Amino acid sequence: MAEAFVITVDGPSGAGKGTTSAALARQLGFHLLDSGALYRLTGLAARRAGVDMADAEALGEVARTLPVEFVSAEQGVRVELGGDDVGAAIRTEQAGMDASTVGAVPQVRAALLQCQRDFAKAPGLVADGRDMGTTVFPAAPLKIYLTASAEQRARRRLLQLQEKHGGDLSEQYPQILADIKARDQQDSKRASSPLKPAADAVVIDSSDMGIDAVLAQILGLYQRCQVDGGSM
Ligand code: C5P
Repeated sequence: MAEAFVITVDGPSGAGKGTTSAALARQLGFHLLDSGALYRLTGLAARRAGVDMADAEALGEVARTLPVEFVSAEQGVRVELGGDDVGAAIRTEQAGMDASTVGAVPQVRAALLQCQRDFAKAPGLVADGRDMGTTVFPAAPLKIYLTASAEQRARRRLLQLQEKHGGDLSEQYPQILADIKARDQQDSKRASSPLKPAADAVVIDSSDMGIDAVLAQILGLYQRCQVDGGSM
């Protein structure tokens, strides 16, 4: 079987990993793993089943038996949980925080590990997350750690919300910034697979860069990998 070339894209929330990874996968004709969606789905499934968010064993069981389906639809992929379209429900701030809570549970991380590795299929995979380069695909030949200042990430999130809901929501900025800092703190301080760059990752700070510039830099690194025939 042909091997899959894996590009890992890790970093804190709001650094532009999702947009960058999707564009990268499209350009290269690679598969895409949005690992955050799996943690969001686990959090949502746990909430809907009334599972105690402090019960590690029960949360592990939720992750092991997640009734999730990624259904091909006209507008990309529809995410279903037990047959219910949860595309919007997993994108709320609450779902992000719940994902971060269940993501700190080793039983949940262990349950989702093989499921994530199974996404690596030829010709290649772009894996978007927090521990793609450190834990899930430690042998990946190209690892990116995409970051940006918390203030810049909060401004981008505010713009996204304004585009979605309309109007001036700038009074929400302090809360958005506080949420981002809280999630960063929770993700980087946990014992199990904390958020940090892999030793061999290329760190890109996108605070003052647009998506096109970030994409061009990663594509350049990918070409170099191809020429060198090895890792960075
Ligand atoms: O990337 P996204 O914002 O969708 O991820 C939601 C949360 O899921 C993150 O804040 C993080 O706590 C958790 N997560 C994780 N490991 C991953 C991806 C996401 O712990 N590989």
